[in-house]
Amino acid sequence: MFKTRTAKKVGIVFICLILASLSMSSAQTKITIQAGQPGAQISPTMWGIFFEDINFGADGGLYAELVKNRGFEFPEEAVMGWTRMASRDSRGSLSIRDEEPFEQANPNYLRIEVRDPGRGGFGMTNEGFRGMGIHKGQSYWFSIYARATMEPMTFKAEIIAPDGRVIGEARFSGVNKDWQKYQCQIVPTETEAKAKLNLLGTRVGLLDVDMVSLFPVDSAVSSPMMPEPVPGLRKDIVQMLADMKPGFLRFPGGCIVEGRDLGNRYQWKNTIGPINKRQTIIGRWNTEFAHRLTPDYYQSFGLGFYEYFKLSEDIGAEPMPILNCGMACQFNTAELVPMDKLEPYVQDALDLIEFANGPADSKWGKIRADMGHPEPFNMKMIGIGNEQWGPQYIERYKVFAKAIKDKYPEMQLIAATGSDATIFPNGHAEIEYLWKQWRQLKPEFVDEHFYRQPDWFLANTNWYDDYDRNSPKLFVGEYAAQSVGVASPDNRNNLKCALYEAAFMTGMERNADLVRMTCYAPLFGHEDAWQWRPDMIWFDNLNVYGSANYYVQKLFSLNPGTNLLKVRLSDVPNLDDTKKALSVCSTLDKKAGEVIIKAVNVTDKGLKANIELQGVSKTGPQAKAIVLAGKTLEDENTLQEPKKIYPAEKTVSVKSPNFSYEFQPYSLTVLRIPAE
Ligand code: AHR
Repeated sequence: MFKTRTAKKVGIVFICLILASLSMSSAQTKITIQAGQPGAQISPTMWGIFFEDINFGADGGLYAELVKNRGFEFPEEAVMGWTRMASRDSRGSLSIRDEEPFEQANPNYLRIEVRDPGRGGFGMTNEGFRGMGIHKGQSYWFSIYARATMEPMTFKAEIIAPDGRVIGEARFSGVNKDWQKYQCQIVPTETEAKAKLNLLGTRVGLLDVDMVSLFPVDSAVSSPMMPEPVPGLRKDIVQMLADMKPGFLRFPGGCIVEGRDLGNRYQWKNTIGPINKRQTIIGRWNTEFAHRLTPDYYQSFGLGFYEYFKLSEDIGAEPMPILNCGMACQFNTAELVPMDKLEPYVQDALDLIEFANGPADSKWGKIRADMGHPEPFNMKMIGIGNEQWGPQYIERYKVFAKAIKDKYPEMQLIAATGSDATIFPNGHAEIEYLWKQWRQLKPEFVDEHFYRQPDWFLANTNWYDDYDRNSPKLFVGEYAAQSVGVASPDNRNNLKCALYEAAFMTGMERNADLVRMTCYAPLFGHEDAWQWRPDMIWFDNLNVYGSANYYVQKLFSLNPGTNLLKVRLSDVPNLDDTKKALSVCSTLDKKAGEVIIKAVNVTDKGLKANIELQGVSKTGPQAKAIVLAGKTLEDENTLQEPKKIYPAEKTVSVKSPNFSYEFQPYSLTVLRIPAE
């Protein structure tokens, strides 16, 4: 009897629970926005860009030079990238020399001794950066320094297709014993992603050549210091950056700042001035990953600090240089500059500020002016170290901070919190230690990094909700969802990673009073020469495309709003115990008179929500919805389908401050609602 009654009771409770859960799941999700009470100002630098020369991001990427090892200066292998080129009936020999170079700072040059030019000439072929991207009908500057130490010489440059066909050519004569620059434009007859460049002596004699260069004319720059055209930046790639309207540009990295050892660190002074004087060093990422060895990865510094400042200015981003603080990468050698030898490093920081901001007649300001930019770059912030940690970092940081603040009190400092807590030794304890220091030392910004599984990003949209508001402001300086594992070669830039990052970004924006700057990392990946993935923008020698993650970043960056609005969510379905189906943030755009809502639906079903804009008397009636969506979480953009995941814009009728909207399956939606 007792048993039966109990069973009945259990049965009733069970039915009630089913009903309750059914009614829970059918209850409409509600988004309430306190639109009448604008809160903290959104920092204009909220959404920015992280640049590092990784994955052929600079040489072979953004920097438009097509000749690899143009100066024969790759340490240890002076002819890397070059191979002997002889037609069947030509004869000669090749050597690398350094007597009486045209430029002492880069002494190596190539000597081509032609004993018999045959019909085709004798010399070398440059393979480019995994080939050279050549566009039919566009003009390319070919230039070279040459001399002939015996008889006057003649030579030719040929752009060739992979099968050896000549698709562009230039011929030169009258080369005599003095070093001289020869240049002309070549207009190729075909488009080719894997072209090469032949350099061939065409008569008997000795031909010395150096700084062999080929680059698209429409990337060319010149300045008083470099009066002749020199390679600039790849226009298609720059456009992708400009399209984001980024708040800042962080450069030059990343671990490249630190170097594997101190000799390999990034030294900005070696990257400015005439490009012939800039010295090539080995790329920090060339042998970092056994699974992606890249022994031909060097840094020519054709893209150097002046170019980074100029790029920042051109795309309307605040320049954010990060400097070595006397510590090599702590994941590699962890080499340290002794405290009594730190002074030159600190001086580098002070000189950089003068280079960027000083008057045109100051020592370093003059170099900037001579390079073509007499006006200051107006740099406002500077990072001391990249992924640094431990007491050795604090010791060094203090010296930098004092010297910089004494001379430039308005300069904003960025301090590090090591690397991602989950991947660096004893990460969580190290981060706690650093945060304790930063609360006392009060740098303007503290830089945090997250390279984690996508699920972590979705489960932690509230990560910054409980951060101490009296602490320094946050710069989330590197983050990216790793679909397989940190820097795994199998990681994908798929929709899941992009949407889960977007959900995390709603959390950063909801905490925009504290989180003032953020950027995805790394920025670039060359399809044939990457070391690390995922990356935000991918390219080959001819094309560039944005990953799904790029479009997420772009949508946030183009729709920042001016002030934070509080959002209350109710009856949002759960994905599981730790994750919600919908993440939302909202801002007011005072200038446009619009409420902006960003919402991420990570489910495979449309999610209908009632939206209430509190404090708004009148809306629209037409609002704009920009939707980035895909069919499956595995979807991704590729060279073949570069716009598979691409934002679509539509108008939406919003007739009152209370309205309903259905968020598409697997989507990030930006709603812009005109509101009074
Ligand atoms: O973004 C790639 C690397 O990840 C950066 O160089 C470094 O700062 C981080 O560990």
